[in-house]
Amino acid sequence: MIIKKVGVVGCGLMGGGIAQVCAESGYETIAREINEELLEKGIKAIKANWDKAVSKNRMTEDNRGLAIQKLKGTIDMKDFGDCDIVIEAAIEQMDLKKAIFAELDSITPANAILATNTSCLSIIEIASATKRPEKVLGIHFFNPVPAMKLVEVIETISTSKESMETGIDFSQSLGKQVVKAKDSPGFIVNLLLILFLLDSIRAYEKGLATKEDIDAGVKLGLNHPMGPLTLTDLVGLDTTYHIACAMYEETADPKYAPPVLLKQMVTAGWMGRKSGKGFYEYK
Ligand code: 3HC
Repeated sequence: MIIKKVGVVGCGLMGGGIAQVCAESGYETIAREINEELLEKGIKAIKANWDKAVSKNRMTEDNRGLAIQKLKGTIDMKDFGDCDIVIEAAIEQMDLKKAIFAELDSITPANAILATNTSCLSIIEIASATKRPEKVLGIHFFNPVPAMKLVEVIETISTSKESMETGIDFSQSLGKQVVKAKDSPGFIVNLLLILFLLDSIRAYEKGLATKEDIDAGVKLGLNHPMGPLTLTDLVGLDTTYHIACAMYEETADPKYAPPVLLKQMVTAGWMGRKSGKGFYEYK
């Protein structure tokens, strides 16, 4: 299947990054937000990334111009009516995702692929909201999307071989390295990552070490690019909390139960880098 036009549901941290790499890779791209204010914020952030790329000589002025032409924004899902693939990057709530997929199913062409960027939710359950489960799969990007090389392409028990091939070819065409995963909680990376983040938060919560020392220990002792508490701030405390809750609900395994401190911080509105405060403060 040839992909020409890509729809992205959501233009926040993940959706914006996905729309950016799609437009940069030459696809007609349309990103949808729930209101004009969020849309403008998302498109502005993408354009700022392109400006930065030009100033660092990673992108030519011409290519920035081409990418800008390829990118459109909308607040109307009906604008996905001629998309060959739509990637959903809304917040991690099953009911919301099912409502979005039911709507996409009624709007997009019958042969369009519907992909979710969910971090952890059951993709077959999302697919059950459509009449085309064979065309539903996971395409899971990593934050920050333009900088991270990996994409997990996830097949459910209903995803067709052809849809998987299209999802893999498409992800590779964005310059990403693909790993194939099954539709099980956390797929490959979050299955491992979330426990690591939760255990780091528990260590801090118990007062075993300062946040700076936990981060320095992992960064310098394991050669990770950032420590786990800094990484939780990057991923978003709310996102980490939602993933932990979903994995706990799905597996009933207490190791995924979110630490009380994480819940308290999310309740206080400390979402990490995006809100200006998490384990650390950001300007
Ligand atoms: N948007 C776009 N590009 C970005 C970016 C952003 N927000 N942040 C950094 N980059 C790019 C920079 O432009 C730079 O590119 P260049 O070398 O071509 O100029 C490159 O990334 C390196 O950036 P910096 O030199 O500014 O900074 P660092 O070398 O410190 O790298 C980092 C920053 C890439 C964020 C690095 O610290 C890192 O890899 N951290 C770990 C990130 C990680 O683990 N992400 C996965 C999170 S889990 C996830 O997303 C799954 C989800 O389901 C929860």
